[in-house]
Amino acid sequence: MYACMIFLLLTQETKMIGVMGAMEVEVELIDDVMKIERIDTIGMKTYKIGSIFDVPCVLAEAGVGKVASTQTAQTFIMGYGVELIIFTGVAGGINPVLEVGDIVISKEVVHHDFGQILPDSFIPFDTIGFPADSYLIRLALDAGEKVELVPVIDEMKIEGRMPEVILGRIATGDQFISSEAKRLWIERVFNADCVEMEGAAVAQVCSAYDVPFLIIRSLSDLANEDADIDFQTFVVHAAENSSRLVEEIIRQLARSEDR
Ligand code: ADE
Repeated sequence: MYACMIFLLLTQETKMIGVMGAMEVEVELIDDVMKIERIDTIGMKTYKIGSIFDVPCVLAEAGVGKVASTQTAQTFIMGYGVELIIFTGVAGGINPVLEVGDIVISKEVVHHDFGQILPDSFIPFDTIGFPADSYLIRLALDAGEKVELVPVIDEMKIEGRMPEVILGRIATGDQFISSEAKRLWIERVFNADCVEMEGAAVAQVCSAYDVPFLIIRSLSDLANEDADIDFQTFVVHAAENSSRLVEEIIRQLARSEDR
């Protein structure tokens, strides 16, 4: 049954794009603008098939962490033959100039928890990472100029500044970072701008299959000791900013003649 379904999916003519996020809050706004034609369940995950602004699309809530996002990226590629993958979601800020609500467009994505443990240190196996697709980066930077983002409103209900959109480095690990010491370490060792829990896994799968990818992240917290509480306060807001940018990227893809 499963093999038959995969065969049917693989023989579909139309190329799709794959859009994923880890949590429901990260994909629900994309879901709102999607025309859904069919819903598949594969490996206990839900894949919504349809279109966004007439671009054929498969949308999935992957789950949190590197294994979950690997599973979804692999299914996007092997099951649906996607032509590109865009990840939308939230992250912890690593670059100290960034604030909650700001957006990082991936230039490269690197695993920060992949390496060798020595008695007094940790040696990463890679500090360079996987480069995102240059065409998608260009589309995202253009989209960043046009998109209307929501300024952060803090707990005091004081309207904050307009979010910045930067091109930067994203570090990924199976860890939620709530430590200023660890934030500093990730900044120093990986020169990262933000930290999250899925991007490098998606990037690694995409690189293995030569599928272009882009990771979009908006900051829900600053990866310090307040990260837990900031995450709870700002996750919806940050997820909305990331979704708005991804929607604008897909709008540009729909217009693009290169597809
Ligand atoms: N996603 C959002 N905030 C994060 C953090 N502080 N660490 C890892 N992933 C995150």
